Amino acid sequence: MVPYQQLLATLPESPKTWLVTGAAGFIGSNLTEALLKLDQRVVGLDNFATGHQRNLDEVQRLVTPDQWARFHFIKGDIRNLEDCRQAMTWQAPGSAPSPSSASVDYVLHQAALGSVPRSLKDPITTNETNVSGFLNMLVAARDAEVKSFTYAASSSTYGDHPGLPKVEDRIGKPLSPYAVTKYVNELYADVFARSYGFQTIGLRYFNVFGPRQDPDGAYAAVIPRWIAAMIIGVDVRINGDGETSRDFCFIDNVVQANLLAATTTAADARNQVYNVAVGERTSLNQLFELLRGELKEHDVCFDKAPIYDDFRAGDVRHSLADITKAGQLLGYAPAHSIRAGIRRAMPWYLQFLRV
Ligand SMILES: NC(=O)c1ccc[n+]([C@@H]2O[C@H](COP(=O)([O-])OP(=O)(O)OC[C@H]3O[C@@H](n4cnc5c(N)ncnc54)[C@H](O)[C@@H]3O)[C@@H](O)[C@H]2O)c1
Repeated sequence: MVPYQQLLATLPESPKTWLVTGAAGFIGSNLTEALLKLDQRVVGLDNFATGHQRNLDEVQRLVTPDQWARFHFIKGDIRNLEDCRQAMTWQAPGSAPSPSSASVDYVLHQAALGSVPRSLKDPITTNETNVSGFLNMLVAARDAEVKSFTYAASSSTYGDHPGLPKVEDRIGKPLSPYAVTKYVNELYADVFARSYGFQTIGLRYFNVFGPRQDPDGAYAAVIPRWIAAMIIGVDVRINGDGETSRDFCFIDNVVQANLLAATTTAADARNQVYNVAVGERTSLNQLFELLRGELKEHDVCFDKAPIYDDFRAGDVRHSLADITKAGQLLGYAPAHSIRAGIRRAMPWYLQFLRV
């Protein structure tokens, strides 16, 4: 059996308590859903800065009442150390008292302010959340002696390094305040291992997509934004010439990486950062055609040509991951290509983005 299938088979036999920060957001709500479906106990922490109650409501609809009863939500802010500490020590009713001060076993830290343009517009709030909030989470997790701490890092850390594919130990200079914050997370994580022996795992996500990714607002990611535009029939705007490329990664691959990272017992797999992607490069022009083609399968015809705007400040030109390290040390093996992921997610887009 491959490592992930083995894990999926064993987790329900011995339920653990997981803290998912950013649980009302896109990635956090998908992690929460996957864990509840595996009969795990989940503590969710979110301040709804960019997340939504509707995401939690949807998770509730997708799990059984028994599974939902194992979810405890805390409306709190990672910029507040006490909120982080409170989340670490929440005691599930009926769970055995923990020998450490933590009642949480595994932390999956997702809460942050995403988006390069948002960080250019408001670097201070981005820094407060992504750097000070991250540090609060590290301190609270270290003090609570949780079993593992896995956090959302970012491919933006590669910055202006021209090499392709991106390999974990070769990075360039950050191109945005957001990228700085995500790199600082990695630096703090490394220092916590050296200074306190508190080991973590960083997952550098590459353009994640899937159900519950927010299609609205100025900072929406490209896939839900374009699908929404195509469904409604308004112009699709491409930043630059359309040859900018990305390694788009379906959410189920990200869930897999998180579960493998959190539960790994291999000493050499800890205190590391990993690329989490597919290892496939898709240009924006190719993405446009792919989305248009998939929508056609669902009788949604979009026949407008895209509109090309200026390149966007802070954007990396090309992004493609080498995922060898995550494969070797964590047993990560992405199960969904971009096409398979779009196909899986399309019914959700059609149900929720159709007006
Ligand atoms: N989506 C991607 O392609 C991608 C790529 C690289 C890295 N990431 C990282 O993955 C993580 C999750 O991203 P996402 O796409 O799900 O974004 P999201 O905006 O949907 O989710 C982030 C969640 O964090 C919450 N949050 C923000 N500030 C908070 C605070 N101060 N206290 C508590 N909660 C707070 C938000 O309300 C939201 O629910 C982030 O750390 C992001 O930087 C995402």
